[in-house]
Amino acid sequence: MTNQNAILLTALKSLRQSRRFLDTPVAQADLEELLEVARWTGSAKNTQPWHLVVVTDPETNKALAGCGDFAGFLENVTASIVVAMEGDNRGVAYDDGRLQERVMLAGKALGIGSGTAWFSHRAQRQQVRDLLGIPDHLEPWSAIGLGYTDVSQEQAAPQLSGRKPIEEISSWGQFGRPAPGNS
Ligand SMILES: Cc1cc2nc3c(=O)[nH]c(=O)nc-3n(C[C@H](O)[C@H](O)[C@H](O)COP(=O)(O)O)c2cc1C
Repeated sequence: MTNQNAILLTALKSLRQSRRFLDTPVAQADLEELLEVARWTGSAKNTQPWHLVVVTDPETNKALAGCGDFAGFLENVTASIVVAMEGDNRGVAYDDGRLQERVMLAGKALGIGSGTAWFSHRAQRQQVRDLLGIPDHLEPWSAIGLGYTDVSQEQAAPQLSGRKPIEEISSWGQFGRPAPGNS
C-alpha cells in the first residue's frame, strides 16, 4: 500500500465528531473548498437535491444551536454549513448523509474538526428556514458544525464513543458465520 492510501485509510477510521472548538475562524478559502467537495458528491440519478448555506455569523450559529435537541454544540462553532434537501425519502436521506460525510472528511484533510447536528422536528426545521430564509420546498435536516477542535476538552460522553466489535456487526457467507479462520 502506498503512503497516501495508508493515510486515507487512517483518516476514514479516525474521523470523529467534534463538539468543542477554538475561537480561530475557518478561512473562507477552506469553506469554499468544502463546498467544492460537497458539489462533487454523487446522488441518486445525479439529482443533486441539496442547497448548502454557509453560516459564519456567531449569533446565527448560536440561534441554530437552539434549533435541535442535540445541536447545542453549534454555539461553539466558528462556521457551519446547513444542508437543506429537496424531499425526505430514503434516497434523499442517503444523499444527505453521503454529502455530509464527505464534507467532514474533507474538513479533516484541511485540519478542520466537524460535527453533524440534526434538526429532527418539523417545527425546528421551520425555525431554521425562517432564520436563513430557506424556501419551503427545502428541508434543512441538519448542519455541519466546523472549526478547529479544542483538543484540551472532551468531545463527547463515553457512551457516544467507541464501537461494537467487528464479529457483532458482520458475518461471512451466512448470517452469524465468523470470518474464515476465526471460528
Ligand atoms: C444521523 C446522525 C445524526 C447525528 N446527530 C447528532 C446531533 O444532533 N448532535 C450531536 O452532537 N451529534 C450527532 N451525531 C453524531 C453521533 O453522536 C456520533 O457520530 C456518534 O456518537 C459516534 O461518535 P464519533 O462520530 O465521534 O465516532 C449524529 C450522527 C449521525 C450519523
